[in-house]
Amino acid sequence: MNWKKKLQLVKFFLLLYVKEHWLSKLNVRPLVAELFITENCNLRCVSCTCWHEFTLNELSTCEWKNVIEQLIDLDLIKLNFTGGEPLLRKDLVELIEYASSQGELEIHLNTNAILLTPEKLQQLLDAGVRSFNISLDAPNSATHNLIRGRDKAFETTIKHLRHLSTQKKQYGLKIRVNFTVMKDNYTYLPQMAELVRDLDVRLYLNLASDQTFLFRDNRVTQLMQVDLPGLKETLKQMVELKKKYPKHLPSFVDFKYIEKHFQDIIQREIPCAESQLKLMIHSQGQIGGCWGHDPKFNVREKSVQEILGSSEYIESHAAFFKKQCVGCGSNYSLNLRWRPSSWIRNFMWNNNLLSSN
Ligand SMILES: C[S@@+](CC[C@H](N)C(=O)[O-])C[C@H]1O[C@@H](n2cnc3c(N)ncnc32)[C@H](O)[C@@H]1O
Ligand code: SF4
Ligand code: SF4
Repeated sequence: MNWKKKLQLVKFFLLLYVKEHWLSKLNVRPLVAELFITENCNLRCVSCTCWHEFTLNELSTCEWKNVIEQLIDLDLIKLNFTGGEPLLRKDLVELIEYASSQGELEIHLNTNAILLTPEKLQQLLDAGVRSFNISLDAPNSATHNLIRGRDKAFETTIKHLRHLSTQKKQYGLKIRVNFTVMKDNYTYLPQMAELVRDLDVRLYLNLASDQTFLFRDNRVTQLMQVDLPGLKETLKQMVELKKKYPKHLPSFVDFKYIEKHFQDIIQREIPCAESQLKLMIHSQGQIGGCWGHDPKFNVREKSVQEILGSSEYIESHAAFFKKQCVGCGSNYSLNLRWRPSSWIRNFMWNNNLLSSN
């Protein structure tokens, strides 16, 4: 990210600080667009509903290009291509090339990596992707494949992830492994720490949620019934491993948050910066809302500029910031990262001035 984009981000968080403490009516514009390029998928994850029905009438190449042009005019800093499984879109490389040619934006891709062959990866790198989240729900084939609903999913994903990590230095890539913490896999966290250290990538712990629009399902509610004393014990081990692998594991305050998520999904005392930072655009053009609240607009009917300036968008997002919402825990790490109290706690813990308990 260049210095101009970094400055935009600093300004964004300063404005959020002002909004939280002094000017609750201040409207802070989003800087990142989350593009659900398709809501279809090639896996069958137990924690997700993308694959339950086939989504038709998704935005065409031309429509997405038009949306991207409008986003470039908004001077965003980053586009996140996600889904569903974004690599299922035949025009993904074309759309990313188009975005890169229009402006200086960071381009990020979330993927299960099943289709991330070395050839496809090269096309994506040439098109300008420099940041990847690869989902891995266990460090072993049996558990990952059970959660992901496909034989051999682990083998393919890990093969492609290993190749991706060999390109890290040459292209200056940011690579994160996304592990969604749930009942069936939390005990493998210490082994995940060893795996990400071996691959030299960062571990991000996504927290299972049944409130997020793609994940509203009774099965997911059951997966959230994590054994709390067991989770606490595992997180204690992770905090110890953080001392050993500081670069590869989440922060101390992240670990402390995770313990609480499965008892209180809202965590109302922590404002939702995520809902302010991200503009959500779904595969059929629905735009707005946040991870837990559905969009009320469509890019097929109104311009992005008009939607962002509407009183309905502004008012709903003012409520999201204050956590007047269903709560979902999405990107809790961002919600913590900009807060001075988190810096102080992390600093103290890193310097042995705060106990791990
Ligand atoms: C919906 S997927 C889209 C991208 C791609 N298909 C993938 O799996 O990486 C984005 C992330 O959501 C995570 N996820 C799946 N089910 C979830 C749930 N119930 N709660 C929170 N995150 C979940 C996935 O593990 C993945 O890391
Ligand atoms: S989590 Fe990703 S890979 Fe799994 S079904 Fe959902 S979209 Fe597909
Ligand atoms: S925590 Fe609340 S406001 Fe933030 S994304 Fe989730 S549902 Fe939306």
